[in-house]
Amino acid sequence: MKKNTTIVELLDSDQLLQQVTVQGWVRSFRNDRFIALNDGSTLKNIQCVIEDDLLDDAVLKRITVGAALVISGTLIESQGKGQKVEIQVASVHIEGDANPEELKLTILSPKKHSLETLREQAHLRIRTNTFGAIMRVRSQLSFAIHQYFQQNNFHYVHTPVITGSDAEGAGEAFKVTNMDLTKVPLTEKGEVDYTKDFFGRETNLTVSGQLEGETYAMGLGKIYTFGPTFRAENSNTSRHLAEFWMIEPEIAFCDLDQNMDLAEDFIKGTIKYLLENCQDDLEFLENRLIEEDKRKTQAERSEMKLREKLHFVLDNNFKRVSYTEAIEILKNSKPNKKKKFKYPIHEWGADLQSEHERFLVEKHFKCPVILFDYPANIKAFYMRLNEDGKTVRAMDILFPGIGEIVGGSQREERLDVLKEKMKALDIPEEDLWWYLDTRRFGTCTHSGFGLGFERMVLFVTGMTNIRDVIPYPRTPLNAEF
Ligand code: 4AD
Ligand code: MG
Repeated sequence: MKKNTTIVELLDSDQLLQQVTVQGWVRSFRNDRFIALNDGSTLKNIQCVIEDDLLDDAVLKRITVGAALVISGTLIESQGKGQKVEIQVASVHIEGDANPEELKLTILSPKKHSLETLREQAHLRIRTNTFGAIMRVRSQLSFAIHQYFQQNNFHYVHTPVITGSDAEGAGEAFKVTNMDLTKVPLTEKGEVDYTKDFFGRETNLTVSGQLEGETYAMGLGKIYTFGPTFRAENSNTSRHLAEFWMIEPEIAFCDLDQNMDLAEDFIKGTIKYLLENCQDDLEFLENRLIEEDKRKTQAERSEMKLREKLHFVLDNNFKRVSYTEAIEILKNSKPNKKKKFKYPIHEWGADLQSEHERFLVEKHFKCPVILFDYPANIKAFYMRLNEDGKTVRAMDILFPGIGEIVGGSQREERLDVLKEKMKALDIPEEDLWWYLDTRRFGTCTHSGFGLGFERMVLFVTGMTNIRDVIPYPRTPLNAEF
């Protein structure tokens, strides 16, 4: 097998004078002599130096930004500043030209582009430093997540993407069908006849793997899912996607306190991994943020540098606050009294909007917050009812700049209470007979949570729009590529 050498390996190599071949895309070409080549393996480029008269003018002309090259030569100690090693070029093969005139219309021309413009060029934006850094961090974070759970004896479960249930009961599921939509079969009553559909029943894309995850935790003990989830929420915000990835651990014999401990330890463990393994990319993203901040007003600027913020999360306990305490704080807060909230907080029972969550985290506590014991009627049917009969063992983790990053709960393990709850919410028992069975046969205390992967990537990269941390964002009226 012929092994290709990556630039990240060479930059780290101390085997000088070895013959090497690198392959990548031109980032810059100066004085017909210095090529900065990038292959995506690292943020850094490798400098390739062409001696006079090595190449014909015709070839030199084709070495332009964006072109794909295969370069062979000798790895030598760099003569210039800024890098340890460079390549003394022996040959250049141009595998793919990039016409500079056409390129001007894309993001690859060296001038700076806004993130919005880059979004329209989502197939090319990965050739920029910013998106290279984000996507490498995203990849490393995925790995850190798997590593965390595997090291803690969790089993990875692949819950289905197509399902008959709507776990969150929010009615935001995308339907799945292969019916001819111009000739939809109807029942005698004039309703859609799903018995004629592919699965013989109504199905949708999953909004969460939780319910199926719970059934597996009832046999494997500790499980997690990590997969795409889909929500047809018509929220055009910088925090919502119609397709996003979610990590959902589910643990048998685990109560809400242990669930909160796990979530906090998990978030800290994965952030620690990034700080240790993504130094170059995090440093680049940190500097990007500093530059971006210069164009902002004092009030809009971040209080901490990116890595400082990540260390802050590692070094401090998340503040645990009950919903009831939070409502008191919000009720008496300045923005509430001065009518600055779009949704003023009048009384206990109000659903918290992102403005409230961000006030608690960014202004009041100034650290990550775990809110728990929410009113039953603003949360999903499966959460365990407290002794007070009006709150449930729910917990949300709120992060600065992000708002809700985790939603979880202790599950209702008592069959009779669960059935009551479903009845009150008009959820037919027939639809979830399999879920109820877990409460019939060896039910036990259990808990879990869901972490929105892109929200976590937003946090660790310091980006502000969720569309910039997923390769191909899906949002209302937008599914290009
Ligand atoms: O709070 P949610 O809706 O909780 C659940 O789905 C539970 N079944 C999880 C569980 O207990 N196993 O969603 C969990 C997290 C949110 O906290 C948020 O981070 C993220 O998923 N999320 C979204 N991220 C991007 N775009 C959206 N439209 C999102 N909706 C939720
Ligand atoms: Mg939630």
